[in-house]
Amino acid sequence: MDGNGRWAKKRLLPRSFGHKEGVKTIDRIADTVFSVGVKYLTIFAFSTENWNRPEDEVAGLLGLFRRYLKSNVPKLIKRGIRLNILGSRRAFDQEFIDLVDDACKRTEGGSVGTLNICFDYGGRAEIVEAVNKCVESGRKVDETTFASCLQTGGIPDPDILIRTGGEHRISNFLLYQMAYSELFFTDTLWPDFSGEEIKEIIAEYRKKDRRFGRINEE
Ligand code: IPE
Ligand code: MG
Repeated sequence: MDGNGRWAKKRLLPRSFGHKEGVKTIDRIADTVFSVGVKYLTIFAFSTENWNRPEDEVAGLLGLFRRYLKSNVPKLIKRGIRLNILGSRRAFDQEFIDLVDDACKRTEGGSVGTLNICFDYGGRAEIVEAVNKCVESGRKVDETTFASCLQTGGIPDPDILIRTGGEHRISNFLLYQMAYSELFFTDTLWPDFSGEEIKEIIAEYRKKDRRFGRINEE
């Protein structure tokens, strides 16, 4: 999700308004993709590098996340959406950790789709954590067992990666998992990102010939 700050700036509003508006986009996009058969939606909400933003913006983002967890769970349950939080918890106090665990637990029965929210997440940090798990286990790993040590263990690799906000970079998102993802970049700022546009991207994706290194034999 990129472009919240610019969305607000264009309207002469503080950046925090853009983040608030961006939260609404999450629900809109989740409903759209789950309605067309997507089973997992993974949102990059806060990176390990976002801690370097000004203190008030970081506090605002933490506050928004907390509010989302506190107030959105009944709506998620109603829509059949299972919530899953990825990322580090080292910066959270026990109350926050309980809030995260409680939200995930209460939505556990959701079978329409899984919404993964990555918070204090970094692809490199995740890989390093997985390597350490493997080292501690003392066993050699292959690609499958290694993948199961990642925080996304049990979740299929993403078929589609979308970055809004005009930049063409990955910024430390799902580095291991996106080896064969189809990449889409749009100039649309995240708060403006619509169900229509993501449906167009999915339609475009469906036309692609995914060979995974093989060739097509006619
Ligand atoms: C993305 O929007 C939201 C988060 C990283 C939390 P930005 O805050 O990066 O918005 P821009 O890039 O400044 O417009
Ligand atoms: Mg940005």
